[in-house]
Amino acid sequence: LDIVVDAAPEVEVAPDLWGIFLEDLNYALDGGLNAELVRNGDFEYTAGDVPGWGPLTGWGVETPSPTRTVWPRTEDPVSENNAVHIRVEGPTVLRNEGWEGIRARSGERLRLRFAARLLPDATQGLVWVRVAGRDGELTTAAAVAVPAGDWSWCETTLDGIATGTGQLRIDVPDGVVVDIDCVSLRPLDDAGRPRLFRPDLVAALAALEPSFVRFPGGCLAHGVGLDNIYDWKGSVGPLHERRQLSNPWGYHQSRAIGYYEFFLLCEELGARPLPVVAAGVCCQNTPGGPRAVPLSEMPAYVQDVLDLIEFARGGADTEWGARRAELGHPEPFELRYLGVGNEDEITPDFRDRYARIEDAVRGAHPDVAVIGTSGPSWFGRDHEAGWAFARERGTAIVDEHYYETPMWFHQNLHRYDDADRSGPAVYLGEYAARSSRMRSALAEAAYMIGLERNSDVVRLASYAPLLARVGHTQWQPDLIYFDGERVLPTASYHVQRMFSAERGDRVHGVRTGGGREVPVSQASRGPVNFRLATGRFALTEVNVNGEKLPDQTLAAGVPLSLGRFGLDGLDVRFVAERLEGEKGFNLDIGEDGPETTFSIDMGNWRNDFVT
Ligand code: AHR
Repeated sequence: LDIVVDAAPEVEVAPDLWGIFLEDLNYALDGGLNAELVRNGDFEYTAGDVPGWGPLTGWGVETPSPTRTVWPRTEDPVSENNAVHIRVEGPTVLRNEGWEGIRARSGERLRLRFAARLLPDATQGLVWVRVAGRDGELTTAAAVAVPAGDWSWCETTLDGIATGTGQLRIDVPDGVVVDIDCVSLRPLDDAGRPRLFRPDLVAALAALEPSFVRFPGGCLAHGVGLDNIYDWKGSVGPLHERRQLSNPWGYHQSRAIGYYEFFLLCEELGARPLPVVAAGVCCQNTPGGPRAVPLSEMPAYVQDVLDLIEFARGGADTEWGARRAELGHPEPFELRYLGVGNEDEITPDFRDRYARIEDAVRGAHPDVAVIGTSGPSWFGRDHEAGWAFARERGTAIVDEHYYETPMWFHQNLHRYDDADRSGPAVYLGEYAARSSRMRSALAEAAYMIGLERNSDVVRLASYAPLLARVGHTQWQPDLIYFDGERVLPTASYHVQRMFSAERGDRVHGVRTGGGREVPVSQASRGPVNFRLATGRFALTEVNVNGEKLPDQTLAAGVPLSLGRFGLDGLDVRFVAERLEGEKGFNLDIGEDGPETTFSIDMGNWRNDFVT
């Protein structure tokens, strides 16, 4: 194989090109990245989240008493934003199974914390707590004394004595009548602090080496209805004071991972935060009701956005910088990007409110790049209108999204080759091919070569939603699946990781030929890139079925091979091709959901996948 590399680089790779998109859908946060093990510990789930849900969703009750011993109540709550608690009369055991069971590990310590108040007619105030599995105890048991009087915070640690999945049991003995709220069980880290994030998921994110994290959505950022817009101020501060929200994806948001934790996560990943605020309008899919913040409330709304920037990076002598310092982070977080809007319909209401926000941010923080929204490619009219509006306004960057077939990606490899370099830059905020996993991953890889080659105009890109709990997905595809125990990266994850973690700083044109035919790579603008990073070369090749575009659907059992190999001084990051009749391995590609996993072992290289 001859490889001819153009001496002059075609383009410098945008330094923040590869990032990730974290939205609370598919149980990505509660039941996922949030290390909290108790589900609905605040008793705040409602029928507004999901018909049939309520304060006792996630809880079970065991009692020998013929009368009811547990009542949801709202009188004298722990905080206005945590309106519901329960009153329990012993003898009663309360059970919580978290999300498909509470995972305990031998040697791991768990911190149990809850708010409680003893009723005056109680004769004693001890409750017993432990985690137990079907086959016995998973942690030690502890007695917790509930003081008389108003709400108190009760805390204890439970030591893991076996590894397994079980339930938290709170045993309220005979004679005890107690109000309980805000039940939390979190693993402790090595320094004895309760974990905020699930470490195996953080490790999977860290391996991607993302430059930025887009959060909190997607649709979740602009919400279904004005009340459902993600108000960042309601998501910071003590957990029991945060405003919990219905999740537009059909569940509940405790917002235990709120804006402060999102910033901490970015810091832990070494990534820049890319928060997205609603453009003063909620999702156009909101049934009935007003969809735009009233003009009389826009000054306060705009001020909230400016306060967010101050919260992120203001000095400790500013109001919101001081708030951040109080929460434990006196140093500013770096904030260079701010998304305004998500896939919005480009209506007069949107234009008006977006303009007010963008003008205010430009005026007060000219160094923050405002990212506008174009509406997804399949919205046609709004997509074009979003771009036209952004050009008119001189918006720095425009966020566009597409979820398309692998065929579409292969047919659009050159989408940005002739993009207008004088207008707004592109943030490809969400994209993914929708088909079988391997086939989609190959199409995305081919497409990403084009993004990299055009990264003078495509400055930022992040794949579809990041996390999905198996059995709780509302959106496909996603990058990483998981359950209570396992992390299951997809083939697309490995593609993203290879591009991001093996990043170059320049792209050179490449022509190949010689001993082996690589037809699609004959031209330097084909899906082959040669990249030069400090002292290293990387050739990226995606070869799907030779020159032909892949079939619309690959049938189960089609032989594929996936490999990665090194040549002298040349690190080939990703080669995938259909090898009929050649030595390789066989795998069955499932078309229906994330539950089937498989791994490929090629001696010195092994990958686990989920189909
Ligand atoms: O990625 C899931 C959803 O897809 C996002 O919330 C939205 O922006 C897009 O339509």
